[in-house]
Amino acid sequence: MAYTLTPSSKFLVKGIEPNLTPMVLGSFHANFTASFDFLGRWFKGDEKTTTESAFGVGPWDMLGRDPQKLKSFNEAMASDSQMINMALRDSKSVFKGLESIVDVGGGTGSNNLSYVGGSMFESIPSADVVLLKWILHNWDDENAMKILNNCKEAISKKGGGKVIIIDAVIKEKEDEHEMTEVKLLFDIMMMSNFNGKERTEEEWKKLLVSAGFKHHKIAPLFGFRSIIEAYP
Ligand SMILES: C[S@@+](CC[C@H](N)C(=O)[O-])C[C@H]1O[C@@H](n2cnc3c(N)ncnc32)[C@H](O)[C@@H]1O
Repeated sequence: MAYTLTPSSKFLVKGIEPNLTPMVLGSFHANFTASFDFLGRWFKGDEKTTTESAFGVGPWDMLGRDPQKLKSFNEAMASDSQMINMALRDSKSVFKGLESIVDVGGGTGSNNLSYVGGSMFESIPSADVVLLKWILHNWDDENAMKILNNCKEAISKKGGGKVIIIDAVIKEKEDEHEMTEVKLLFDIMMMSNFNGKERTEEEWKKLLVSAGFKHHKIAPLFGFRSIIEAYP
């Protein structure tokens, strides 16, 4: 019998860039899928997230209290950003003419950046563009709206501007079944681990309209993620 790598498993081979090994080790195994063992308790109990059922604290406190877990989570996010950066090279028009960008909840970052500490629920530094990559799916609509309102304020100080959201958009009718399955798996992970959710096109529209954005555009980006440009 002979074995060969599939196109996606090549991204797990040592030395190959971009490399998604940290994503598998840090995000899907050690931190969050472990709390799936507590799904039954979470489902029957009052805890908002499985991390509360498993570790007694919410997901961000769980990571904040354990440097090793935080490190592996940040490495996972950075490896995902390598892939997304490649895809963004084909979306240059999205960033054309913009002078400043704030990457909210940017993790450790993987480019030339200045870091500004603080909570996105308090305030967001002003810029032409606010980028929310894999942020809003961590939050329910009420909290997502608070973040979006702060983003709107951050870009309105500069005049013009937009918010760029990189997240999944569930499109059951258009997508292949396997693609919908991936998005729904993430939906379950977001719901159980973060009290968040993946959203359909309609749900994104409702959220953005409620947060006061006048129009938005959605385009597929890469894999199961889309890019959403929202204008106040
Ligand atoms: C799923 S990660 C995405 C990280 C990064 N945007 C990326 O895609 O690689 C969510 C990020 O939100 C950050 N975060 C959570 N609560 C936050 C808050 N109140 N203010 C700012 N960032 C926060 C976390 O620390 C984490 O880095």
